[in-house]
Amino acid sequence: METPPNLNRLHQFVSELTGICHQETRGQRLIHQIKPRLQALLAHDDWLSPTLARPDPQRYQQYLLYADPQSRFSLVSFVWGPGQRTPVHDHQVWGVIGMLRGAELNQPYRLDNRGTPRPHGAPQRLNRGDVVSFLPEQGDIHQVSNALDNETSVSIHVYGGDIGATERHLWLEDGTRQPFVSGYSAQQEIH
Ligand SMILES: [Fe+2]
Repeated sequence: METPPNLNRLHQFVSELTGICHQETRGQRLIHQIKPRLQALLAHDDWLSPTLARPDPQRYQQYLLYADPQSRFSLVSFVWGPGQRTPVHDHQVWGVIGMLRGAELNQPYRLDNRGTPRPHGAPQRLNRGDVVSFLPEQGDIHQVSNALDNETSVSIHVYGGDIGATERHLWLEDGTRQPFVSGYSAQQEIH
């Protein structure tokens, strides 16, 4: 029989996020405080429900784990099947990302003077336990993909708003910008 997930860890993390967002509103300071807490959460892999870590053969999944009632933050699990990737996209809010299982590649982009996204530097590989962050004012356009060809990868993301409902942008292969609201693959409210 499968062991039930240790939801206490998730509840504690959400409680810490709520406390931090109660005290602080500046993105850089929020990130600074959230990073070590996310690292601590990722030190254990016994708390994520299997239904929120399930890959889909068609596309990557983004499961809502928790949405702050005041939309100050949201917590999402991203599940990457082999070879799956996002389009090039932005966020409009700050974010903290950590690897729970497997590995992913994060390719930053910058817009050129015609507004076309161009790769900016080499892709960054995130391995299990690694945590990175971004701020819109420092450039938050990127493309993310599973670094593994034959395994599912799972990353845990904290965003400075209800990311599934946030109006943002993606760029098509030809560089055309489109409005983008990601929604969620499924959601599970925790209390
Ligand atoms: Fe992203």
